[in-house]
Amino acid sequence: MALLTQAPKGTQDLLPEQTAHWQTVEQVIREEAALFGFGEIRTPVFEHTELFQRSVGETTDVVQKEMYTFEDKGGRSITLRPEGTAGAVRALLEHAMYNDGLPVKLYYFTSCYRYEKPQAGRLREFHQFGIEVFGPASPSADADVICMVNSLYNRLQIKNFSLQINSIGCPECRAKYHQALKEYFAGSVDKLCDTCKGRLDRNPMRILDCKNPPCGEVAKNAPVVLDYLCNDCHDHFEEVKSYLDLAGLSYQINPTIVRGLDYYTRTVFEFVSNEIGSQGTLCGGGRYDGLVQEMGGKPLPACGCAMGLERLMMVMQNQGIELPEPSKCELFIASIGNQAQKKAFLLARQMQERSVFALFDTCDRSLKAQMKYADKIGAAFTLVLGEDELASGRAQLKNMKTGEKTEISLSEEEFASQFLTASTDSLPSL
Ligand code: HAM
Repeated sequence: MALLTQAPKGTQDLLPEQTAHWQTVEQVIREEAALFGFGEIRTPVFEHTELFQRSVGETTDVVQKEMYTFEDKGGRSITLRPEGTAGAVRALLEHAMYNDGLPVKLYYFTSCYRYEKPQAGRLREFHQFGIEVFGPASPSADADVICMVNSLYNRLQIKNFSLQINSIGCPECRAKYHQALKEYFAGSVDKLCDTCKGRLDRNPMRILDCKNPPCGEVAKNAPVVLDYLCNDCHDHFEEVKSYLDLAGLSYQINPTIVRGLDYYTRTVFEFVSNEIGSQGTLCGGGRYDGLVQEMGGKPLPACGCAMGLERLMMVMQNQGIELPEPSKCELFIASIGNQAQKKAFLLARQMQERSVFALFDTCDRSLKAQMKYADKIGAAFTLVLGEDELASGRAQLKNMKTGEKTEISLSEEEFASQFLTASTDSLPSL
């Protein structure tokens, strides 16, 4: 029979074997985030559309082409979050979190939604780990965010990535830069896509990260923003660099990084791998000093970044970084007949209460099929219950690795302790 449907284009299922790896990586990330003083925030998958229009920016690809926006049954315009920063800022303001002392340091794991052309490392539903720091204007905070990511990648044993940094200045230097870009692009307007033609007046910097190849070609020799920084932005960037030097991080200055979202000011950065194809940006972020005010709050400087978890897992897999396999079944209780199945059910419960990974047969299979299954899942011990075992109150516990059998009592008080002794005895001695 043909399947009714399949997962939508650009989405993927994660099966238990993969989620086990994801959970291990997520746990390392959580530990690292805690070491840097971040607390987890969880915000809704959907928000009012204007949140993203205002924060990410009306002229960005994300807002113009990629958002999943719909009207809900109450006639509101709703958007599935394309990224995590906007929701974090909204929550910060809504709960006045800045009153609890600065800096406010938040981290999140989120699913994000962008209607992009799917390819390796680029999905329509993807997952991000992100961090946001609210309060500090100091370049040390930018460096701290960058160092956290670097330290995380080291802990995960990821190799061969580069850190690329740039500064895109403040609104003051941006005005001068925009003027220079307008003049530069004025000569080649007809080569630009329609979206970029519209951007020329409103936000010419967006042309620099248009995904249309002809626009990219025109943008190749465009003026670079570093040449237009005001003194304060220049000094800030120098200080960020000196902190990175202090931490011993190597980095490249890449003046073409402008980031695809409008809220950035001053420092922007990306961690890039060239081992996973064209979508090699593992992590992107920067400072966004104007966003909190733009969202209706008092001025509050901020910086942060986010990394795509699918790309992170891809790079780890490519580099053969080993992750622990899911734990295996410790005891499989096979049964013959209804009474034995009930006993198996009870014994399994009893063992699970003692934190033993124990299973029994729920598929009413033949004994042969049950044992085949126990073998397939790699059960460490098996126990067979039939009429004889129920009558005598004793059964044979089989160590599946050595084939050794031990008689074990089925009485509630004795079973657990005898099993635990037998399984501990079978562990290789240190
Ligand atoms: P972003 O650069 O748009 O920044 O996304 C961050 C990361 O998410 C990218 O570097 C990439 O690893 C991953 N990513 C983006 N789009 C996709 C996709 N379609 N498929 C798979 N992975 C993807 C932000 O989202 C900002 N909110 C980061 C930030 C936080 N800036 C300051 N704070």
